[in-house]
Amino acid sequence: MAIPTRALKNAPKAGTVIPVIGLGVYSSNSTTKSVTEALNLGYRLFDTANEYQNETDTAKGISEWLKSNPNVKREDVWYCTKIDDARGGYEGTKSRVEEALTKAKVGGLDYIDMLIIHAPYTAPPHTETRMKVWKALSEFVDDGKIRTLAVSNYGVKHLKEFWDADTKYKPVLNQIESSPWNVHQDIHDYCNEHDIVVEQYSPLIRGKKFDEPGVQSLAKKYNKTPAQILIRWGIDKGMLPIPKSDQPQRQKSNADVFDFKLTPDEVTALQDLDSYLYLEWDPTVAP
Ligand SMILES: NC(=O)c1ccc[n+]([C@@H]2O[C@H](COP(=O)([O-])OP(=O)(O)OC[C@H]3O[C@@H](n4cnc5c(N)ncnc54)[C@H](OP(=O)(O)O)[C@@H]3O)[C@@H](O)[C@H]2O)c1
Repeated sequence: MAIPTRALKNAPKAGTVIPVIGLGVYSSNSTTKSVTEALNLGYRLFDTANEYQNETDTAKGISEWLKSNPNVKREDVWYCTKIDDARGGYEGTKSRVEEALTKAKVGGLDYIDMLIIHAPYTAPPHTETRMKVWKALSEFVDDGKIRTLAVSNYGVKHLKEFWDADTKYKPVLNQIESSPWNVHQDIHDYCNEHDIVVEQYSPLIRGKKFDEPGVQSLAKKYNKTPAQILIRWGIDKGMLPIPKSDQPQRQKSNADVFDFKLTPDEVTALQDLDSYLYLEWDPTVAP
């Protein structure tokens, strides 16, 4: 199964592309195995984090699989990880990234494809501290240790800081919780205007909405599962969903969404369910 790619316009290297779906590994019980199975199925993007405590296992799954699949180039597989937040300032961020690089290296990877700031939380003065963190991250890009920089859970006011300060690198994506029950249209609009890809986390809403009538009726219409309808909603909304599954059959069906499309009216009808539902947290409102 070949997963299509899309342009990553804010990447330091022109012409960079990224898969339109990835695999999340938060709370995976079998990270290395799940990554290997997903690679066998065609997945080429993996989302881990310091917080998930499985960075080395994720990197190991990728590096070992690449050894036995020399036809696939290292640069075609995305190892994406996160530092916890923007609290570290310049020096703290340097050491957090060194730790992330060490964990990747133990797993067999000598650079990080995407380094994401997990949340905008930081110490006052907030904007200034976030910019120091970004400067530290940018130096790793200049040294070739990080390929692209991204953010997660950033609200519009946090995103604007990059343009106000005219930073050398801009975030390539913003990973957020955006579902028909929590759309966050303001973030979509800003990201679309500034070439930031919106990466969609928890795209299956952890199974909590599979029984919704709107989802069920589309599943029936397209002869697809509720999970496939929700993933397709993410893609048709312009996002890059990263569903998590440790089960190869589910990984396969979650990525088997390229033989149908929701109509614009169906995308809008589903998002009429918006009720600001958060699964865990809402750092987009951080100062
Ligand atoms: N930046 C952030 O703050 C943040 C926050 C949360 C998540 N994330 C990222 O987003 C990724 C995905 O989000 P998530 O893990 O919270 O939730 P999710 O992808 O919405 O749902 C995962 C859950 O759904 C199950 N599942 C997967 N495919 C299924 C299918 N086809 N049918 C029925 N159940 C299915 C999985 O179980 P099985 O494994 O047993 O299949 C798992 O329990 C995470 O792994 C992480 O990488 C980021």
